[in-house]
Amino acid sequence: MSGFPARRMRRLRRTGGLRSMVRETHLRPEDLILPLFADATTDTPVDVPSMPGVRRHPVSGLPSVAEAAVDDGVRAVILFGVPEAKDERGSRADAGDGVVQRAVRSLKEEFPELTVITDVCLCEYTSHGQCGIWEDGDVDNDATLERLASTAVSHAEAGADVVAPSDMMDGRVAAVRRALDDAGREETAILSYAAKYASSFYGPFRDAADSAPDVGHRRGYQMDPANAREALREVRLDVEEGADVVMVKPAMPYLDVLSSVRREFDLPTAAYHVSGEYAMIRAAGEKGWLDDAEAMHEAVLSIKRAGADLVVTYAARELARRARSG
Ligand code: PBG
Repeated sequence: MSGFPARRMRRLRRTGGLRSMVRETHLRPEDLILPLFADATTDTPVDVPSMPGVRRHPVSGLPSVAEAAVDDGVRAVILFGVPEAKDERGSRADAGDGVVQRAVRSLKEEFPELTVITDVCLCEYTSHGQCGIWEDGDVDNDATLERLASTAVSHAEAGADVVAPSDMMDGRVAAVRRALDDAGREETAILSYAAKYASSFYGPFRDAADSAPDVGHRRGYQMDPANAREALREVRLDVEEGADVVMVKPAMPYLDVLSSVRREFDLPTAAYHVSGEYAMIRAAGEKGWLDDAEAMHEAVLSIKRAGADLVVTYAARELARRARSG
């Protein structure tokens, strides 16, 4: 009685109630995190050409963007900064009046219920575009930790609910946790970019954040795309160092990694559907080669199905709207 004709898989598949009753994975608005770019160099929104629909905003423009996102059902944002000036040490990263710090203050003031996450990295603030202190052709790991920790503390003091170190230095989660606790910010959570690969899919983001390295590359700290077991070692260290949520990045080319991280660890797991993943789908949509709204939904659903509890995606608003309207 186990095979055809007794067993007909199509019975539960037909459009309508049954099909949705047996659906295994659901995208909910609260699963989604919307990236926002706070730009100190402009008073008006600036389009990011390689990411249709994405703009950099002056701090004064962010509350209305956040309001529209909240109306769509989005409950969390992750902030990136484009500072007024860059230098060797990334001095504006931890400035009390830095662009991200001001953005956090204004968002938390207007939307106390919105979860505000901040990306903690130096690449948007250094003149050379590396994610840390650049010394003799390499990033100085231990000198960078101090800068990252003070950046995280300044974000927390501005009111960030969660800080998200994305630099891939060794020991940064422990350094950030210790600094937050010393500053009396025990309640600030850490979402660590735990398994972050040296990926070509970050290209459009580097346009958006104006952060492409002009010396060297990032392979000295971001992971080799060939390695999956190493991701488990990376995640384990971040868990031991005090991460509250761990993230895999990029998402779709690394669904195998995401799935094994979800299986091995009991922390909430996030995935970053990165700029290049977003841009590819939009570009194909613009050419009329596929239905980009459908493809975007399918892509992010696949990331959830592979094991992500949370997905950072530039399509968060449209996906939240779609989830709400069923
Ligand atoms: C900062 C950072 C990057 C991204 C998120 N945080 C860029 C990079 O590491 O080069 C990429 C996000 C995206 O591509 O959407 N280090």
